[in-house]
Amino acid sequence: MNFAEFAASRKSARGFKNKAVSKETIDKIIDAAKWAPSSYNTQTWRVHAVTGDVLDKIRQGNTENTLAGKPHVRDFPYKEDYVGEHRQRQIDVAIQLFEVMGIGRDDKDKRMDWMLRGFRQFDAPVSLVLTYDKSLEPAAITQFSLGSLAYGIVLAAWDLGLGCVINGQGIMQSDVVHEHAQIPDNESIMICIALGYPDDSFAANDVRSTRLENSEFVNYVGF
Ligand SMILES: Cc1cc2nc3c(=O)[nH]c(=O)nc-3n(C[C@H](O)[C@H](O)[C@H](O)COP(=O)(O)O)c2cc1C
Repeated sequence: MNFAEFAASRKSARGFKNKAVSKETIDKIIDAAKWAPSSYNTQTWRVHAVTGDVLDKIRQGNTENTLAGKPHVRDFPYKEDYVGEHRQRQIDVAIQLFEVMGIGRDDKDKRMDWMLRGFRQFDAPVSLVLTYDKSLEPAAITQFSLGSLAYGIVLAAWDLGLGCVINGQGIMQSDVVHEHAQIPDNESIMICIALGYPDDSFAANDVRSTRLENSEFVNYVGF
């Protein structure tokens, strides 16, 4: 497979086998991913690899806070109420996922169940929590660099037969993640990546999300 085929073959995994991922495997993934570019090679990232009881406590805290209606707390300012064509794409992928999972449009229970799965990091055996030093705020460049590391992680995992979903929901109660993963307050939690061996029988893992044609978002100038 060449790189273009490999990149196109990757899909987010949202259902995982009940199989542990070894520290050695995580190390291999990070060894490959850390060759991601960062601004001035500053490598302003940290990775907290979390599993076992600690991850279970994070799932529990996320679930309890969500059910209690606690507002989301992230470590950085953000806006995520997409509109227009962006909102449409958000809806489109949700429709794809809900369809294969048999979640009806008006089925509030199943929708809630799906949302809670996200807050439980899809019951993945491992969560990689990506952080950066708070002293870097406002940290748009660092956040960009963490994005390149995240994609490196996702691709490196896929190469080893593991699946990932980059999971914004998992850190929407960032105080829960700080507490249980013992992440100091001087680190901003950017994102987490749920990681494990994909369960091929889990319907959502079949979803192939769409992409625009290049001509819809690329502007060639001077060619
Ligand atoms: C910053 C970021 C946050 C994400 N958060 C979530 C999430 O909370 N829940 C989820 O199911 N997927 C999440 N995703 C995965 C996207 O939905 C997914 O990458 C997108 O639909 C494209 O599908 P693909 O990864 O299968 O190509 C996130 C992806 C990114 C990059």
